[in-house]
Amino acid sequence: MAQPTSQFVVPASIADSVPSVPGLPLLGNLLDFRRDRLALQDRAARIGPIVRVTIGPIPFYLVTDADLAHDVLVEHAAATRKSAALKFLTPLLGDGLLLAEGAPHKRHRKLLAPAFAPRRLAAYGRVMVDETRAQVARWRPGQRIDLAEEMMEMTLAIAGKTMFGADVRGDASTVATGLELAMRAVVANISSPIRLGYRWPLPRHLRMRRAVALLDDVVYRLIAEGRKLGTDRGDVLSMLLLARDEDDGGSLDDKQVRDEVMTLLLAGHETTANALTWTWYELGRNPEGLARLTEEVRRVLGDRPVTTDDLPNLPYTLAVLEESMRLHPPAYMTGRELLRDVTLGGHRLPERSIVTVYIRGIHRRPDYFPAPLSWQPERMLPEAKKLRPRHHYLPFGAGPRVCIGAHFALMEAQLALATMVQHARLRMLASHVTPEPMVTLRPRGGMPAVVA
Ligand code: HEM
Repeated sequence: MAQPTSQFVVPASIADSVPSVPGLPLLGNLLDFRRDRLALQDRAARIGPIVRVTIGPIPFYLVTDADLAHDVLVEHAAATRKSAALKFLTPLLGDGLLLAEGAPHKRHRKLLAPAFAPRRLAAYGRVMVDETRAQVARWRPGQRIDLAEEMMEMTLAIAGKTMFGADVRGDASTVATGLELAMRAVVANISSPIRLGYRWPLPRHLRMRRAVALLDDVVYRLIAEGRKLGTDRGDVLSMLLLARDEDDGGSLDDKQVRDEVMTLLLAGHETTANALTWTWYELGRNPEGLARLTEEVRRVLGDRPVTTDDLPNLPYTLAVLEESMRLHPPAYMTGRELLRDVTLGGHRLPERSIVTVYIRGIHRRPDYFPAPLSWQPERMLPEAKKLRPRHHYLPFGAGPRVCIGAHFALMEAQLALATMVQHARLRMLASHVTPEPMVTLRPRGGMPAVVA
């Protein structure tokens, strides 16, 4: 019989001082984890700034303190690598930027950075507005929509055009199915007490293989089309295809380009879609916020299309997005594995420990954000931000692995939200939607709305 992997079992004597969430012998907190991961993490967050949660044989140190999170992600970055849980994404993302480590990570980051430079980003703005208008133009008064699905389709179309210079709307359902299968396989793996490699033909592993096959079809086609054109069209894909390695002058092969493209597709589309979906959820619950947002958009833009030059004049629009990402951070947690012993919050954690930074928990601390469950965009306006330590808010992570697409995402979300306010009237149907913690934080069962 297969043995559970034991490499993460931490010698009890070392990290014993860390308080833990009471659990069952052998299983630890596994059942609670499977039942409701967010509730378990919220419970841990109430115990202390660093708390041990045990899933079968594997202990996780859950951090819900901004200073400790800073220690893990920034100060001790060199003593960490991405946690094993994320490695379940390897069949999907290969050695792309999200999973790469050490020197290859530095090289990839340098390679991709120019694609996210401010000047380049400005050129994407027009596409973001056009694709939002195209999405909204398909809605008819009285139509019932799933806003979550609509936002996924829209951000995929934007990613396709800006990053890959291609129209991928026709591929939206294939990509959605592929990502859905892959996310479910990853979550099933993380929640299993026995972690087996993907070569074992378990149903969840077969799901992952199917997902990869579906997505590979789309991505390799994009690459083939890009290679045929052979010119820099201003998108990330053509830049990758033309890139030369600084050291050996070699170019990236199809598999390397595929890993980067898949990473950007996954990291860049579902996250932004979720941010917009949760924003509309909160606007539905807070009519006075929607009224103030509408007033700002009307005053600054009237009926003309928004451009990137308008963004500094739309501070409330940005605040609405940022406050929604505080309560519902699409990347609600991130994990690191320690490469050597590290002292965190006075506790010595041994090499190989897994530390989970619970971003959502940090964003909901009453000492950082008074009345934390109440949605108040005013606290994200520039004057209020100045009064707060920056690291209390970290929807894009921090340190050397901070989100490379943060500016891209904020720009996209701000342009899309302003455009939607101008061209769509939505009545949100659900006053209470449960979050579903997949790899990102999604609304469980979608986000129903009616076009007014
Ligand atoms: C609202 C939207 C987004 C959110 C909330 C978000 C959040 C994050 C977070 C928290 C991380 C750090 C993960 C960690 O520390 O382990 C990250 C990394 C990353 N994000 Fe984003 N992201 C968003 C949009 C985007 C977009 C639009 C792109 C690309 C176009 C992107 C590409 C990436 C990549 C490639 C990484 C890995 C960076 C590295 O390891 O060096 N993200 N993102």
